[in-house]
Amino acid sequence: MTSVPPVPPVPPVPPPGCPAHESLYGPEFAADPAAVYRRLRDIGPIAPVELAPGVRASLVVGYDAALHVLRSTETFSKDPRRWKDLADGTVPMDSPVVPMMMYRPNALWTDGAEHRRLRGAITDALARVDPATLRGHVEASADTLIDRIAPAGRADLLGEYAQVLPLLVFNRLFGCPADYGERLVQGMSGIFDGVDAEKANELLATTLLDLVTLKRRRPGPDVTSWLMDHPAGLTDEEMVHTLVLLMGAGTEPQQNLIANSLRLLLSDDRFAGSLAGGSLPVEDALDEVLWTDPPMANYAVHYPVHDVVHDGVVLRAGHPLVVSLAAANTDPSLRTDQRAGNRAHLAWSAGPHNCPAQSPARLIAAVAVEKLLDRLPDVELAVPVKALAWRPGPFHRGLVALPVTFPPATATPSGVGDPPPVEGDAPTPQPSVVPETSGVPRGWAARLLAWWRGE
Ligand code: HEM
Repeated sequence: MTSVPPVPPVPPVPPPGCPAHESLYGPEFAADPAAVYRRLRDIGPIAPVELAPGVRASLVVGYDAALHVLRSTETFSKDPRRWKDLADGTVPMDSPVVPMMMYRPNALWTDGAEHRRLRGAITDALARVDPATLRGHVEASADTLIDRIAPAGRADLLGEYAQVLPLLVFNRLFGCPADYGERLVQGMSGIFDGVDAEKANELLATTLLDLVTLKRRRPGPDVTSWLMDHPAGLTDEEMVHTLVLLMGAGTEPQQNLIANSLRLLLSDDRFAGSLAGGSLPVEDALDEVLWTDPPMANYAVHYPVHDVVHDGVVLRAGHPLVVSLAAANTDPSLRTDQRAGNRAHLAWSAGPHNCPAQSPARLIAAVAVEKLLDRLPDVELAVPVKALAWRPGPFHRGLVALPVTFPPATATPSGVGDPPPVEGDAPTPQPSVVPETSGVPRGWAARLLAWWRGE
């Protein structure tokens, strides 16, 4: 890539006949994203798309181009305050993709030394999570959920298992009282789906502010307290934004990895024999899903710091450059069908912003899938795999539902599946830093809510 100032002005509309701006939203994209990636590849390794109505971006669909963008931090910034169309009002603040793309002072949206400081606190706090303890949390959470569905002989493994399990696990890891957790997941899913995003943002903000207040007063052996304890000295404001990031990453992509892997294991003949034989190729299924249906399909949003040209494509300063992790993974130039054990995929992204939670995330997914198949060995899809619908949205790859049937089973002996209570689960009302939504927020909390509300 070379620096090319000055470059010609951007045409206001795509030229006639140009297949410009494929949409990455709506049911058509959700039903067959691979077809969209194929058409975009015909244009080149980087092609124009719309992330939502009127929200234009360039999508990186080539593997080599993706790696280049992810690693060239001096040219491609993560900071959305450079997003020109948002700054000048071309993209309205109430666009459904804004909550997933807007600046927040956390590791994901910062560069350089600030990024290293914020990320350092995260990696160090996550390093304090003991894998055996984590496995115990996942097993206990899985047992709790399987106990609930087992007697019925049918379930939606997305809504009743994959979606809830990461939340139960993260409630434990983050020392989060149960009622907070429910509000958090409502907020997170609202943001990911772009449905009533403003309300979802507000719910998330108030709940996390409550959690930060609780942990400042009563720290415990949990990730929230370890983050606070870190020499990086995160302020309350940074804590809340870091928690938004961790909770977001820890629930939505996690649920998609679990559900997408279960879908594969239950639908693909290559796995059928091994399942019946009792040797569960769960790790292989995880690898394959991370290649073919990565939970974060198109994220890794970057902003060129100045105009640059790549393979003849002009990339404008401040124009969103979204790396398609899914399209890069299936770039035909990779010429590999060997998925099992091959970890060269970009499902965790790459470069300095790659996912810092790969090991725990993989462990959670593996244990969740193994446990389900172990407890319900004769589980089957309740509908043909082709009838399963995918949720619309440009960023994730997640199912609407995963209906299954199985011979009704009994619950584990009483109490086995109940996770231990988190300190603070008792209904002790905690004073909120930000008053309830009808109240008037104060100080930095007011600013935080204002960001979220796009004011
Ligand atoms: C299956 C589950 C997960 C997948 C597929 C996944 C994937 C990713 C991807 C693709 C990114 C890069 C995003 C970008 O560059 O814009 C990322 C970043 C991140 N992930 Fe994960 N993630 C998962 C689970 C988790 C979990 C469980 C946590 C935390 C507990 C987590 C924490 C983070 C954080 C903090 C970042 C930002 C890192 C930075 O910008 O320096 N992730 N993740």
